[in-house]
Amino acid sequence: MDRLQKVMAEAGVASRRKCEQFIAEGRVKVNGTTITELGYKVDPTRDDIEVDGKKIEKERTVYYLLNKPTGVITSVSDPQKRKTVIDLMKGVKERIYPVGRLDYDTSGLLLLTNDGDFANHIAHPSHELDKVYEATVKGRIAEPALEQLRRGVRLEDGMTAPALAEFIRYQKKNDTSMIHLTIHEGRNRQVRRMCEAVGHHVVQLRRIRLAFLTLEGTVEGTYRLLTPSEVNRLRSM
Ligand code: URA
Repeated sequence: MDRLQKVMAEAGVASRRKCEQFIAEGRVKVNGTTITELGYKVDPTRDDIEVDGKKIEKERTVYYLLNKPTGVITSVSDPQKRKTVIDLMKGVKERIYPVGRLDYDTSGLLLLTNDGDFANHIAHPSHELDKVYEATVKGRIAEPALEQLRRGVRLEDGMTAPALAEFIRYQKKNDTSMIHLTIHEGRNRQVRRMCEAVGHHVVQLRRIRLAFLTLEGTVEGTYRLLTPSEVNRLRSM
């Protein structure tokens, strides 16, 4: 959702100031109703906007997969002026935003779109989409800790749902273990907190899969469009 005058200006109607004037003069309709309120919020992909009885083109819906590097925040803007995932989406004109989030220090698969329904659908925990994380943790992780991750661990915001936890390898050189953890929830810093709860600090975290989507074919820091069939498949899940 965005301010009406901003959407109008970006659609090429006129300058932002001029668009505000049009609104105040009662020349603008949203879904058939005259809007004179300046902060009025619209969805540029769905709402019908008319200026002097002429419809403006809706924004097309777009869907991207970004291979997020660490050191970037999952947000459209940052008051602290840190780099955001939107800064990485060079060449994208639509007002996209991230679906769910990855921590500043987490890398990997992130979807971005301007389709609100799609974003809600994907992010909704009841749809139980697999999210697979590759976590490198401190120490040698043993079977009881993995078993606890699978059954669920008690965090301050409650028990976690059953998960898949697979041991990948132990690296003697830096005394770390790599595991793959598949979860369906999306609580704040969930994987880090789950691992911490079973006694293993996460030193590196990467999301490697979301439902059937993987990072294959995208270099870190780059993005690709989802294909129409990928979008349809995600919608039907
Ligand atoms: N779990 C975390 O701890 N961090 C993320 O970024 C994603 C899942």
